[in-house]
Amino acid sequence: MTDYLPLPGTPIEELDTPCILVDLDLAEANIAKLQSAAKDMGVHVRPHSKTSKSPYWVRKQLDAGAIGICCAKVGEAEVMVEAGITEVMITSQVIGKSKIARLLALAPAAQMIVAVEDSSNVLELSEASSAAGVEIGVIVELNVGQDRCGTDPDGAVVLARQVSEAPGLRFDGLMGYEGHLVAERDYETRKAETEKAMAIVTHTADLIRDAGISVPIVSAAGTGTYDITGRVKGITELQCGSYLFMDGDYAEVFDDFTPALSVLSTVISRQKEDAAVVDMGLKSISIDRGLAEILSPSGATIVKHSEEHTIIHLPDVKSRAINIGDKVQSRPTHGDTTINLHEYYFGIRNGKLEAVIPISARGKFR
Ligand SMILES: Cc1ncc(COP(=O)(O)O)c(C=O)c1O
Repeated sequence: MTDYLPLPGTPIEELDTPCILVDLDLAEANIAKLQSAAKDMGVHVRPHSKTSKSPYWVRKQLDAGAIGICCAKVGEAEVMVEAGITEVMITSQVIGKSKIARLLALAPAAQMIVAVEDSSNVLELSEASSAAGVEIGVIVELNVGQDRCGTDPDGAVVLARQVSEAPGLRFDGLMGYEGHLVAERDYETRKAETEKAMAIVTHTADLIRDAGISVPIVSAAGTGTYDITGRVKGITELQCGSYLFMDGDYAEVFDDFTPALSVLSTVISRQKEDAAVVDMGLKSISIDRGLAEILSPSGATIVKHSEEHTIIHLPDVKSRAINIGDKVQSRPTHGDTTINLHEYYFGIRNGKLEAVIPISARGKFR
């Protein structure tokens, strides 16, 4: 199978589409900015690789000073460990014999840490890791208001004790992801609510310490709360992911990081004066957080997607100058779900392709 990949040096206008473009200067600056902010706040960075799904970007984050990475799924972790990444925290629960076996198979090559919220899962992990003769790290997930996964503070103390006494497991600490607050538009609300959520985490860490168990890791934060959570005493690390590329939705929250990602498409039909059709559709751009913003031609808007087509409204004379074969650049509202649709990033510097970057963990949601 040929992938028809362009050669380095190809100008943007000549790239085959639809494809994801990453402005390398901007993404690299985002990595450096989070790392330096974390240093100033006295916390570590353990970036979430569910955003990039790519060892290339994970290596850049580690080279900049990250202490390890987060993965959402065992399948993502497998890709990262195979690429030589040696510090991997899975921030979701790993349930069932076959997934646990896959998790443990990674332990000889990498320090694996996994989130738990339930005692039967702790038992299952302990039995399997002792049988396999390996040790894995465990963090207890707290529900800090997102109402997704995670236990309450009292439950966390019970689980911490169970983990610290369980053969094959090492109690590494706590995690409390404030996902319900990261995209709150109003800074003062975001700050006040995040501080309340983080108080649950730091209070629970104290309860566990009072029970005589040490809590080395206290992990939290998404992009929108990095500078609030990072300043809370007792938080040891940030698990932000989206800061790397930002996206249309996060661009509405703040401009601390710069959007670096776009989807490039080509006009394939031009039957009406005020409309064009491009070769990008729901199979190459996600819309779970709303329609993308068209960056060029400026003023154009998305009318409708189908699987492989998008109808674009051209409001004025300037935008109507676009012809069949011309390029249209759009910024997706949600980066993570758009990235998962593609096999490669086309890394751009100075208007030209510098690197074709595989998205090796795309689709690895098992
Ligand atoms: C558990 C967990 N931690 C961290 C993150 C990263 O958040 P963000 O992409 O907002 O930086 C996510 C994203 O959904 C998450 O689910």
